[in-house]
Amino acid sequence: MKICFIGTGYVGLVSGVLFADFGNKVICVDNNKKKIENLKKGIIPIFEPGLDELVIRNYKSKRLFFTSDINKAIKDSDIIFIAVGTPTAKDGVSADLKNVYAVAKIISKNINKYKIIITKSTVPVCTGDEVEKIIKKNNSISKFDVVSNPEFLREGEAIRDFRYPDRVVVGSNNLKKTKLVLEKLYEPITKKGAKFIATTRRSSELIKYAANAFLATKITFINEIANLCEVVGSNVDDIALGIGTDARIGSRFLRAGPAYGGSCFPKDTKALIKIGDKFKTDMTVVKTVIKSNEKRKSILADRIIEILGKPKNKKVGFLGVTFKANTDDMRDTQCLKIFPKLLKKGVKISYYDPTGEKKELKNLKYKKNSDEILINNDLVVIHTEWDEFRSLNFSKVKSKKLMIFDMRNLYQASSFSNKNIIYYSIGRSLNDKKA
Ligand code: NAD
Ligand code: UGA
Repeated sequence: MKICFIGTGYVGLVSGVLFADFGNKVICVDNNKKKIENLKKGIIPIFEPGLDELVIRNYKSKRLFFTSDINKAIKDSDIIFIAVGTPTAKDGVSADLKNVYAVAKIISKNINKYKIIITKSTVPVCTGDEVEKIIKKNNSISKFDVVSNPEFLREGEAIRDFRYPDRVVVGSNNLKKTKLVLEKLYEPITKKGAKFIATTRRSSELIKYAANAFLATKITFINEIANLCEVVGSNVDDIALGIGTDARIGSRFLRAGPAYGGSCFPKDTKALIKIGDKFKTDMTVVKTVIKSNEKRKSILADRIIEILGKPKNKKVGFLGVTFKANTDDMRDTQCLKIFPKLLKKGVKISYYDPTGEKKELKNLKYKKNSDEILINNDLVVIHTEWDEFRSLNFSKVKSKKLMIFDMRNLYQASSFSNKNIIYYSIGRSLNDKKA
């Protein structure tokens, strides 16, 4: 099948290369010409483990193509995936759909034979109806179907998640015609055990928001329990184990940490409230989750200030600044809300990130490795859970006292024999604080 992906970002590039790896001919399109030129040279625009090798191999095998010529790519394809960004709009809550609608308009002018147009971007319920309307308005003769097929991959785990998802969701108002095609396309995945869920277009669109909001709720819940653990002297890791082993609850997404961040949970939870408003349905649970998650960043900034005692001119080093490990994505990362509060108190901040220096943090000092962070600071904050932070070289800490605030609970207080280290973590009893 000839496929094109419009939007070659985290989702478009990963899904595109994997469909190519399954044996399809895939054209990845982007209006960012530099990105496309770089991809042709084998320069991958994002940090995603395993992606480089896959892209280069499939490009060399002539199954994967890159272009900025959107018109030709659409004409040459049977299946067109829309995978452009749907960030938060200027109003601060809604999903901005201008990229999706702009692409729909271009598609309408290039339908030369029957095509299936698939929205893979996360879009509010009824967006498919609107995409269909735009195409019909500009093109009343061609035959096409607009299908919803949300993506559930996680950054940093994208290749595994795409190859081995729990389910593939397909929503169409013409399942009779589209289901067989989509089933065939996803066969390499469903053969390995993923459930194929076929539903209406609107249900499929809503499944995506409900999934993200539910996962965000789970994280927020365990973070609130962590706050309680710290006060009553319990251990949140044991609570997560104790509740997560109940199959009705499930053990995943119960890791307490520095609030949820990233390019999706923050924007999608907000957009879900806006969808509720549009259809006059109150989303109290999701509203509370957003509020609690925002507050958490402030609570953690206060905790750092409390640990420092007198914060003015104290030196704090952050290990990891992205919203999670194994990604270079800085969108809505938690520390962007923590830093201003610390800077206001006169704290001197430096940071190290395995994916390099960040343009968003121009005013902070970048260090080249974690050793430099361990040697030169009063407090070290483990902000992301990169594997390399699980075996830090604490022997570097010799002469002075170092405090560590482990926001990902990578360590146990008992593992510190160096008496110069004072260890703080998340949601563990006060007794666990000191090494
Ligand atoms: P991204 O910003 O990484 O990539 C989007 C790409 O689309 C960019 O390269 C941009 O240049 C391109 N683009 C924008 N408008 C275009 C146009 N008119 N024509 C051609 N190209 C255009 O975004 P992303 O993280 O890949 O997310 C894409 C969508 O997938 C969003 O709706 C997001 O919510 C959803 N999603 C993302 C993830 C994730 O892990 N990032 C997971 C599941 C779903
Ligand atoms: C999330 C979803 O997990 C994907 O299924 C979805 O496709 C994607 O959003 C999307 O729609 O874009 P992602 O944002 O890449 O994926 O990363 P997650 O692993 O879900 O982490 C999100 C945030 O929650 C991170 O800040 C992470 O540190 C935090 N988190 C996650 C926790 O604090 N605890 C956990 O147990 C899990």
